[in-house]
Amino acid sequence: MSFTIVEQATPRLNRSELAVPGSRTELFEKAAQSDVDVVFLDCEDAVAPDEKETARKNIIQALNDIDWGTKTVSVRINGLDTHYMYRDVVDILEQGGERLDMIMIPKVGTASDVYAVDMLVTQVEAAVKRKKRIGFELIIETALGMANVEACAAASPRNESLHFGVADYAASTKARTTVIGGPHADYGVLTDKNGDAPRDYHWGDMWHYAISRMVVAARANGLRPVDGPFGDFSDPEGYKAQANRAGVLGCEGKWAIHPSQIAMANELFSPSEADVTKAQRILDAMAQAQKEGKGAVSLDGRLIDIASIKQAENLISKAKAISGN
Ligand code: COA
Ligand code: MG
Repeated sequence: MSFTIVEQATPRLNRSELAVPGSRTELFEKAAQSDVDVVFLDCEDAVAPDEKETARKNIIQALNDIDWGTKTVSVRINGLDTHYMYRDVVDILEQGGERLDMIMIPKVGTASDVYAVDMLVTQVEAAVKRKKRIGFELIIETALGMANVEACAAASPRNESLHFGVADYAASTKARTTVIGGPHADYGVLTDKNGDAPRDYHWGDMWHYAISRMVVAARANGLRPVDGPFGDFSDPEGYKAQANRAGVLGCEGKWAIHPSQIAMANELFSPSEADVTKAQRILDAMAQAQKEGKGAVSLDGRLIDIASIKQAENLISKAKAISGN
């Protein structure tokens, strides 16, 4: 282990995260009643410029009036390059009461962006004598943000999670796609020529590098990596495949831009019973091995060693958080 201890962010379930436009008040109560882990009320890109002021007021009212239960509640503020952002922070923190848990910062480009919001939030928190510290969720969705992802992740003790914003990232990197998340038919591997034998074409995952890079930056700083939106809400199979790819790489959850995506995210990012049983068997086998003075043993014909303990413990603590004990 390194002598540097990575401090872990406030633990929260973040399997699913529902986007709710601040201008659509009729959705607020439905979001509060849903099974989602995190709700983010949006001041940014799901809200048209003419509706920015009203959306902010709606959000303030919703933070005061709606019973959000045990959900984590976040607000996505406007970008630092707009003139809406300072008032999002000031008005929402001054008038929104104590319920808000996190602020989501879109299009983070440099560590200074995070620093600037931290400064503003810290002042308002102190002025209103807020008891609960606001956490930050950062969306990594530009080439600049990805180039500086490590520095952004380390920029504030308020940071809790990094989110991959696939559509803005595609626009920023000029990737050849117009859809929100999912694969691209041109991003694939054609198997080698082998005489006249038919060749196979395997679709690849064009987001693999970006998500992996964000996962590493997040985990190296004790933050949760979360996969962003999948726009085609009429394609549950496509959503599940994308969510699984992100989950396998280490993401803790995925956004839902429609309520139909919540249950899929909750299920796919929860360890299955079989996973938990297997993890427990690994812990039992390693406990036995350690009693016998061994560092590595075999279980079901596979090697397990001290690294397996950490993997198994992670899985079991996630299962406990989900079942609430
Ligand atoms: N939160 C809570 N409830 C939602 C919801 C959301 N984000 N999106 C839809 N619903 C509700 C609808 O009100 C409807 O409820 P009802 O059955 O009581 O009438 C039900 O879920 C089914 O919705 P549907 O009619 O299929 O969708 P829609 O046409 O109303 O809206 C979208 C589709 C995509 C416009 C809408 O889901 C949306 O705005 N999503 C968020 C987009 C967003 O915030 N993007 C920014 C981040 S990428
Ligand atoms: Mg975006």
